[in-house]
Amino acid sequence: MRKEIIKLDSISKEYCVGEFTVKALQNLTFSINRGEFVAIMGSSGSGKSTLMNILGCLDSASGGNYWLNGVNVLDYDDNALSRLRNEEIGFVFQSFNLLPRLSALENVSLPMIYKGVRQKDRRRRAMDLLRKVSIEHRFNHRPNQMSGGQVQRVAIARALANNPSIILADEPTGNLDSQTTKEIMGIFTRLHREGNTIIIVTHDKFVAQFAKRIIKLRDGIIESDLIV
Ligand SMILES: Nc1ncnc2c1ncn2[C@@H]1O[C@H](COP(=O)(O)OP(=O)(O)OP(=O)(O)O)[C@@H](O)[C@H]1O
Ligand SMILES: [Mg+2]
Repeated sequence: MRKEIIKLDSISKEYCVGEFTVKALQNLTFSINRGEFVAIMGSSGSGKSTLMNILGCLDSASGGNYWLNGVNVLDYDDNALSRLRNEEIGFVFQSFNLLPRLSALENVSLPMIYKGVRQKDRRRRAMDLLRKVSIEHRFNHRPNQMSGGQVQRVAIARALANNPSIILADEPTGNLDSQTTKEIMGIFTRLHREGNTIIIVTHDKFVAQFAKRIIKLRDGIIESDLIV
């Protein structure tokens, strides 16, 4: 297994809006090793979500190279990228992004359906994951039948469904109160101890202190990159 799971070389991202160009990311170069727990911080508009979208292969860079697990993502076509996203990357978002009509168990099972896991195995694994984040008693509830913290637990369980190489979380506690934030960060900390690679975007210093490395962005460049 390769130590370096993410390697960015001179990644930039520009958005064109009318006749203006926004330089959202400028020549970012850094690597992240397997098992790291990284917080990405920076003020609003500094490029955090843009970076997460590129790391998660939801969007492509305007320039530079990105190797995920040793493979340059530029070498993947759309189909390969979808498979990569589903199997290598677990996403957790601020607004949860679960499917409203599906139960907790079904939401967690979904990435495994795309991967072709058999129903019996999906169900067993989904229940195990719900148990891992202590929400198994709500397996049959739909998202609108749970609290924000409970829904976020389900979202974390779903992110883990296919045992991804990295977990990307963009403001995962942004909609949660401080007690629930503490509980959710406790879950990320446990996942980190179990060897998962976690990258989390946050405005919140309290949240960032759970990470072991803090990368600060300012106007699309790295202002600081510190092991804490
Ligand atoms: N789709 C887009 N089209 C044009 N400009 C964009 C687009 N998305 C982001 N931007 C611009 O790129 C810059 C970086 O945006 P980004 O969303 O990455 O910031 P952020 O650090 O996540 O901010 P926040 O903390 O508010 O979520 C901003 O100046 C933003 O206005
Ligand atoms: Mg953002």
